[in-house]
Amino acid sequence: MSFNIAIDGPAGAGKSTIAKQLAKELGFVYVDTGAMYRAMAYYFITNGIGAEDEAAISAACPNVNVSITYEDGVQNVWLNGENVSSVIRQEEVGKMASATSVYPVVRTKLVELQQELAKTTDVIMDGRDIGTVVLPNADVKIYMTASSAIRAKRRFDELTAKGVECDLDEIEKDIIERDYRDMNRETSPLKKADDAVELDTSDLDIDGVVKAMKEIIAEKR
Ligand code: DC
Repeated sequence: MSFNIAIDGPAGAGKSTIAKQLAKELGFVYVDTGAMYRAMAYYFITNGIGAEDEAAISAACPNVNVSITYEDGVQNVWLNGENVSSVIRQEEVGKMASATSVYPVVRTKLVELQQELAKTTDVIMDGRDIGTVVLPNADVKIYMTASSAIRAKRRFDELTAKGVECDLDEIEKDIIERDYRDMNRETSPLKKADDAVELDTSDLDIDGVVKAMKEIIAEKR
């Protein structure tokens, strides 16, 4: 039996940074499910399909093949044979992923892939519906949060470090919008699973969060 750790939470709470580090330390595979929604979104963008056009999205889904490979523990995301791991990191793609992940047709496809990965492998999987829908029997469930102001500042620092010009207020506005959509959609909205442990990372640095996570995991292993 594989050991599964589910991490859910809003954009920018620190899920991927922490999950990556923990996966390395514990020898688990890190599965970034947001990247899969981003890959689908990238397909819709590059094929001129609008986020509101549910009919076109439904028609396109059978043509979209998203797959995941790992190289030295790093996840690569493939879209119809093209490695899209870098291009899907753009803000525009994140927004489109939030907008198009509301459709059940998009979710069904990716949830299957995620469940298949977790069946045979020890995974740390992060996303919005992992503890509630994808892995309801996960051994450990964490709901990671942080204030929108802190999350915006983290994103701002990340982009600035990459030399990308950006506006802090604009980033926080986008984050609040994205939270609203992710938490209020009909299918698999972002919410804390009843049996998840909530971890507010607002006042913690990376080492602090990793330490807290290890304590939570140690109790279950
Ligand atoms: O984690 P992220 O920011 O890369 O995710 C991009 C969007 O994808 C997010 O705003 C909502 C959607 N998503 C989802 O609906 N379910 C998941 N398990 C992961 C992401």
